[in-house]
Amino acid sequence: MRSIDDLDVHGKRVLVRVDFNVPLTEDADGRPVLADDTRITAALVTIEELRARGARLVLVSHLGRPEGRFDPKLSMAPVAQRLRELTGAEVALAPGVVGAEVRALTEELREGEILVLENVRFEAGETSNDPELAHALAELADIYVNDAFGVAHRAHASTEGVAHLLPSAAGRLLEGEVRTLSGILESPAHPLVAIVGGAKVADKIAVIDRFMELAEVVIIGGAMCFPFLCAQGHAVGESLCCEEDTEHARRVLAQAANPHHASIELPVDLVIGDRLSEDAEHRVLDGVEVPQGWMGLDIGPATAQRYGREIARAGTVFWNGPMGAFELEPFAAGTRAVAEAVAQAKGLTVVGGGDSAAALARFGLEDTVDHLSTGGGATLELVEGRTLPGVQALEGAGVAGGV
Ligand code: 3PG
Repeated sequence: MRSIDDLDVHGKRVLVRVDFNVPLTEDADGRPVLADDTRITAALVTIEELRARGARLVLVSHLGRPEGRFDPKLSMAPVAQRLRELTGAEVALAPGVVGAEVRALTEELREGEILVLENVRFEAGETSNDPELAHALAELADIYVNDAFGVAHRAHASTEGVAHLLPSAAGRLLEGEVRTLSGILESPAHPLVAIVGGAKVADKIAVIDRFMELAEVVIIGGAMCFPFLCAQGHAVGESLCCEEDTEHARRVLAQAANPHHASIELPVDLVIGDRLSEDAEHRVLDGVEVPQGWMGLDIGPATAQRYGREIARAGTVFWNGPMGAFELEPFAAGTRAVAEAVAQAKGLTVVGGGDSAAALARFGLEDTVDHLSTGGGATLELVEGRTLPGVQALEGAGVAGGV
């Protein structure tokens, strides 16, 4: 994969695909404002390096899923504003994604200046990877840099199509994500401990399967522990648990019996509640037999201690998915304990985006891990061993024009 070290960007228009798909909220007047700018700050390394090297930057991103239509609530305006504050640079917002007017704006850019294109998913051709849109994007620049790791699992016009039309390279963020995540799969420091949580086994089964082969220990938390407990014959009460997930769990448990595979760690105690609510009646259950009328909503304190011991002795920790309904205070302790154990671990710690990142942020621990991935689906797909189209398009790419 080419990196920006391989490019001469001075004075060139560089189209940078970033993942500025950030959560939005509304101000008092109902106008969209950013709820979190992590993905913008994560892209600054590449943006600042390219500016310092005299590039003229054209940034392109999606925001939400507008399905090919203009939607003022999903305009890049608040993103451009935040970028202006963070960089202190001249940051203009284009009136659209492609076309003559936008192209003229790219030609007027001076070194170090930034033009942010409108939400690329306002164009129907983006998600269908329409060659016409890819060509129209390529007309806006001399060089293409993909730094949008979070969307690298999508073969879209701005992540895949355009990479074949311009000299192309990976930005620092994408490069770092691929290097770190591939590194823990290919040559981890052992023992490798994977912590997999969340609601459904089916959503993470490919990740669990991969770590059953690569890791020494796979720790299971969140509602997805119930299909495992059910497969072992325990009562799960009203906990989330479906037959499809129990089938997956049965198969994984059979694998765990094989000494060449990872061992599985399951809860030995639970926090149960009578409903999923902040004011639910709740208690610690000594053991894992969930009574009728109750549901398991967090791992218990003895489990949290056991999991903490495994994390402390790991050479590498990969964590994806919470241990319970951590957004509700009565059910947050298990996720907090695991987050603290990961924060204190001596091994390399890698946290796969989404809910685990939100959990770290809730407990003020986001700066304590070695690598906090900006990807959700992209991180999982890479860990599963799937090819990411946005990354693949950069392999051996960039010959057109020979920059
Ligand atoms: C994400 O938030 O996971 C990425 O930006 C991809 O967004 P998408 O799921 O809408 O393609």
